[in-house]
Amino acid sequence: MGTKHTLTRTQQGLRGEIHVPGDKSISHRAIMFGSVAEGTTTIHNFLMGEDCLSTVSCFREMGVEIDIGEDRVTVQGKGWDALKEPSRVLDTGNSGTTTRLMMGILAGRPFHSVIIGDESIAKRPMKRVTDPLKLFGTAIDGRGEGNFTPLSIRGGSLKAISYELPVASAQVKSAILLAGLQASGMTEVVEPERTRDHTEQMILQFGGKVERQGDVIKVRGGQQFKGTEVFVPGDISSAAFFLTAAAIVPESRVTLRNVGLNVTRTGIIEVMKAMGAKMKIEEIESTGERIGNITVETSDLSGIEIGGNIIPTLIDEIPVIALLATQASGTTVIKNAEELKVKETNRIDAVVQELKKLGADIEATEDGMIIHGKTSLHGAEVTSWGDHRIGMTMAVASLITDSPVHLDGAEAINISYPDFFSDLNSLKES
Ligand code: S3P
Repeated sequence: MGTKHTLTRTQQGLRGEIHVPGDKSISHRAIMFGSVAEGTTTIHNFLMGEDCLSTVSCFREMGVEIDIGEDRVTVQGKGWDALKEPSRVLDTGNSGTTTRLMMGILAGRPFHSVIIGDESIAKRPMKRVTDPLKLFGTAIDGRGEGNFTPLSIRGGSLKAISYELPVASAQVKSAILLAGLQASGMTEVVEPERTRDHTEQMILQFGGKVERQGDVIKVRGGQQFKGTEVFVPGDISSAAFFLTAAAIVPESRVTLRNVGLNVTRTGIIEVMKAMGAKMKIEEIESTGERIGNITVETSDLSGIEIGGNIIPTLIDEIPVIALLATQASGTTVIKNAEELKVKETNRIDAVVQELKKLGADIEATEDGMIIHGKTSLHGAEVTSWGDHRIGMTMAVASLITDSPVHLDGAEAINISYPDFFSDLNSLKES
């Protein structure tokens, strides 16, 4: 595949503190809302990962002026109607969030556009978004009866819909809300389980209105937004790798600063506490989303069962939770997580196959995996499968293997965490 990395066990505990990079979900949304708002949006702690840069390039392609400065990103929004028909295809790279949320925006724009992405995006299901967008009255199609990229969209005037999500997905919910904001009437989305609510929070932050009643979210069409200042919290999904590393490497104590603590994202904290992790959270006052500092120490862990409505709150953390479970005594069962099969890779297969190569006692099930611990891990040749979170899981595992791990495809980590290895090394050296 790509770059080979040889990773060796750490000789001492991990010590020190780091500021994990900005939240990926919030960074995408800040660019999107800033692009359709009126006035300047200033984004602090924007994630400079490849996925969020794909969002930047797509909106630039539609005529939005976006400046990437030393310590901030500024977006010169001129309202929904200022978005221009792109003269080239919109390339979303590896990013499912860019692809799906942007479709919701494009559905209401009176022009033609085509979306493509990389090989992974080409395999990910898009019907879950194209189906509801068609109900709004937009003309949208793609390969495989509208299920895969390349996707072609001719947006236009939309009529509000009421829609029950067949899968608990924040990306699908967000695409519907973004189309609903441009439709005539009140759009309603029903969630089977609560998913991340960054889109709803951002509607409010940009001066719009959105309501939640139980599991129904409602937006009225015709809303105009005002540019604003966004402080992006640290990404708990990136912090997860160091929370795990600190818990499993002997003699460690690590503090992660300014991590986003939105309750729709904190499933990993609940799971680690239930497994017996030594963890301290100090909440910090903030005007935007909840944030705090998290400290974790080496811990004696026990296996647990993870399933039901906690799954959407930790879906991206399951690869590294599986690694954590290899170091817990007893059995960990992860269920109701079939969505893992349609992430950047099939993450059930990827995690099970790669952790097995390191000596883990792990098996795949239809909707998750079963891990028996505690096992000592050994070195092997492994691959990221081109998936950033699998790559980082392997890098964390290598901290405790008795011989080196050779990781192929480590460059995938740049998707969400370009400074991952330097942050990891700083904890080894302090
Ligand atoms: C995301 C939602 C989740 C998550 C993805 C980011 C978002 O996907 O896995 O990494 O920003 O809305 P689904 O909505 O498909 O579950």
